[in-house]
Amino acid sequence: MQRLIPVLNNDHVPLHLISVINTLLTATKEISHLLHQGSLAGTLGSTLEENIQGETQKKLDVVSNQLIKNMLLETNLVHAVASEEEDFVVMGNPDAKYLVAFDPLDGSSNIDINGSVGTIFSILEKPDHPAEGTELFLQTGDEQIAAGYILYGPSTMLVLTTGKGVRMFTLDHTVGEFLLTVEQVKIPEDTKEFAINMSNRRFWTDPMERYIADLLSGAEGVRKKNFNMRWNAAMVSDVHRVLSRGGIFAYPADCRNPDKPCKLRLMYEANPMSFLVEQAGGRSSTGYERIMSLQPTDIHERVSVVMGSRNEVDICLDYFKKFK
Ligand code: AHG
Ligand code: MN
Ligand code: MN
Ligand code: MN
Repeated sequence: MQRLIPVLNNDHVPLHLISVINTLLTATKEISHLLHQGSLAGTLGSTLEENIQGETQKKLDVVSNQLIKNMLLETNLVHAVASEEEDFVVMGNPDAKYLVAFDPLDGSSNIDINGSVGTIFSILEKPDHPAEGTELFLQTGDEQIAAGYILYGPSTMLVLTTGKGVRMFTLDHTVGEFLLTVEQVKIPEDTKEFAINMSNRRFWTDPMERYIADLLSGAEGVRKKNFNMRWNAAMVSDVHRVLSRGGIFAYPADCRNPDKPCKLRLMYEANPMSFLVEQAGGRSSTGYERIMSLQPTDIHERVSVVMGSRNEVDICLDYFKKFK
């Protein structure tokens, strides 16, 4: 089985970019080890702190953030980083060109139940025009030069795109290397599986409510087929299922909290996942617009998400057109 670096070399990925990705992976191997050790590592449970989004930080949110941030900045190849767990952009080498946005630990609520969690990352280049701090990152998803996630499940996997399709690698713990296990990821165009937090149903907007109601109506209903539902409560592991066997994943806007109608973050959750999904032949939208075309206004901005199997997402988007 091929190791990561020769695979990226074959794809003509620039050496410095390979080095950035590899450094990030070194940090994630450490996170994988901590997760594996569970209570024995003393890193489960919560801190007394909140992040800028008002979420109580888990110890592993903080530890993972420190590991990834410090290792990336030490390479001297990174100009700046943006993280879910950092209020503001953190500057690195002024002469370096790479920008890395990341969600150090995705699915934090799964940490203490020994469930699957992940790390998500998105890599951009410093823009041509003069920019500082937050401004550096305010680029559309289409500007990403690489994106991926690490899934810490029963095995630890890397799912990566540099714009030439999507590959899956599995961490071989005996040698500490990610080995190529899926050469070309293709999301089936049709599906009978959906992923959404149904407990928010009463807060959804009309299009989402009607779309899911039709899925639930089963073989006797308008869709004429029975749908199954799965929800792991970690975007990495829910989207991994979609990339592996198809499906539709949605975290739509809702009216629970009028100040924050959306849950998922554009820069380090929705954009990198959209890049992967589109590169694997799927679709990704807010319901009204393609996610990777959105012009961001803040590193922590939130967005409505519908992504996955192309034909199913298209059907869902018809509801957004019809019931606006
Ligand atoms: P994070 O743990 O990085 O804050 O992200 C959590 C997100 C995402 O991973 C997942 O899809 C969603 O929150 C789960 O939301 P619910 O708690 O509503 O299920
Ligand atoms: Mn969080
Ligand atoms: Mn997350
Ligand atoms: Mn997180």
